[in-house]
Amino acid sequence: MNRRFALAAFALPAALALGAAALEDRSLAFPSDYRTSFSNYLISDRMGQEDQIMNFWANDIARKAAQAGEPLPDGSVLVAEIYKAKKDEAGEVIESQLGRRIPGEMSVILVMERKSGWADQYPDDLKVGGWEFEAFSPTGENLNRDTTACRECHQPLADTEYTWSYPHMAGLN
Ligand code: HEC
Repeated sequence: MNRRFALAAFALPAALALGAAALEDRSLAFPSDYRTSFSNYLISDRMGQEDQIMNFWANDIARKAAQAGEPLPDGSVLVAEIYKAKKDEAGEVIESQLGRRIPGEMSVILVMERKSGWADQYPDDLKVGGWEFEAFSPTGENLNRDTTACRECHQPLADTEYTWSYPHMAGLN
């Protein structure tokens, strides 16, 4: 066996094994029951996205921790539905008398789930406290987005559990 072949024969299965492990690790599943089992804790016009609205859901693990003012533990799942804002015939976003956008069609569902072990597969600057990120279609198909941008935007928010809406998760009671 010449040296190059020996290297290739070793490197290829190793690369395949690594790839499979990475996929297996990033195993955030679509929480298909979120509309019946999660709490809907906030709906708001999106910052920086002038024609979108976000509708926020948290599972009981996240919500109970937020109500107790505690960190969001492993098993916390957050769902953010994104809606297109309704527009008038001129293509301008319509605002209600409350000065708020009006949700039209749902376009994408963003999901975050926390498991501390999941951070191991990322370099330090993309670890995001064990949170994993995925984007799904409104019917729950994984859109297989590159989640680097998700990580970069949420990573600086360590003081609020890497989320933008932690203070809202406790709800009104
Ligand atoms: C440009 C910055 C940015 C990127 C990129 C980004 N987010 Fe966010 N994310 C936000 C902001 C800001 C909010 C609060 C709502 C809003 O958009 O105004 C938010 C809210 C969320 C929430 C609700 C929980 C919370 O943090 O309050 C989830 C879930 C979420 N994002 C998931 C994702 C996923 C999944 C991706 C990648 C596919 C992603 N985000 C990419 C900025 C970002």
